[in-house]
Amino acid sequence: MAKPVLKWAGGKRQLLDELYARFPASFDRYHEPFFGGGAVFFDLEPAESTVNDTNPRLVNFYEQVRDRPEALIGRLREFRDPEAGPDPEMPFDAETRRGKAVEQYYYQQRARFNERAYGDGWPADDDDRLEEAALLLYLNRTCYNGLYRENGDGGFNVPIGRYADPDWVQADRVREAAAALAGTELRNGDFSYVLDAAEPGDLVYFDPPYEPMSPTADFAEYSAAGFDRADQERLLEVAVELDERGVRVVLSNSGVTYDRYDEAGFFVEREGATRAINSDASSRGEVDEIVATNVPEGERRGPDQRALDDY
Ligand SMILES: C[S@@+](CC[C@H](N)C(=O)[O-])C[C@H]1O[C@@H](n2cnc3c(N)ncnc32)[C@H](O)[C@@H]1O
Repeated sequence: MAKPVLKWAGGKRQLLDELYARFPASFDRYHEPFFGGGAVFFDLEPAESTVNDTNPRLVNFYEQVRDRPEALIGRLREFRDPEAGPDPEMPFDAETRRGKAVEQYYYQQRARFNERAYGDGWPADDDDRLEEAALLLYLNRTCYNGLYRENGDGGFNVPIGRYADPDWVQADRVREAAAALAGTELRNGDFSYVLDAAEPGDLVYFDPPYEPMSPTADFAEYSAAGFDRADQERLLEVAVELDERGVRVVLSNSGVTYDRYDEAGFFVEREGATRAINSDASSRGEVDEIVATNVPEGERRGPDQRALDDY
């Protein structure tokens, strides 16, 4: 069992048992079209799989973890403490791309990360890809609340975190994740690729940005490109088509989508979970979410499987 390397909004570690209870007892290949932090994938370590996310920096990160874990760990070891002074050998040791004075190493790296997002021809070569991945993990593990968030311009704007002894190298997790990802096909596109990738007997786990419970709730903002109501409708159509073809489907979403999946013929149940999905403390709390599946009860893996696997 590997663990997620990145902290990611909507991470599913707390929902693993509820999800596994709906997984089929056996399946061929595994597909995860909304990968994010990949909590389910890393815990499951499926033998054959495809995973996908629209975020190009995220997919580049996992490519580097899979293909060059030791080089990534080596590069991360060279980073300095976030509260140290800026590195005079690197850009932005005097001012950020917005022209603000830089006093801490963290803000210099944040400015480098943001500058790279807009550079022409990014990423230019393998060194660039490695640097990009190292920066993403460094910022993810040293920023406030450890969450990836982009503002309207696509810039990463999270301030420095307060950690006594931050570990941004995560050597064990990187190595375990590399082993879990070996042989996995990584894709950077829309979730609908799975219509071509999945075959009868395969399992697809969908964890989309949740449909907001109210018009003001906007926790579906994982990256500058949102996931709107039309995308939610497309997702339902894809799930229905997979079902008709004999592909196993498990999906999590917010409670407002209950009727939609119920009417489409899925087995749907509500799960109450208290999870931090937003760095704003006022929006933390009880999240009404559903798990939908087309796996009939008698063919499910059942609640005990995971505990048994631990022995
Ligand atoms: C709820 S998160 C997944 C969380 C993940 N299960 C975990 O445990 O960390 C949703 C992910 O979907 C991605 N995404 C947004 N729109 C997408 C699309 N059209 N196709 C594929 N992925 C998309 C986002 O970048 C985000 O990483």
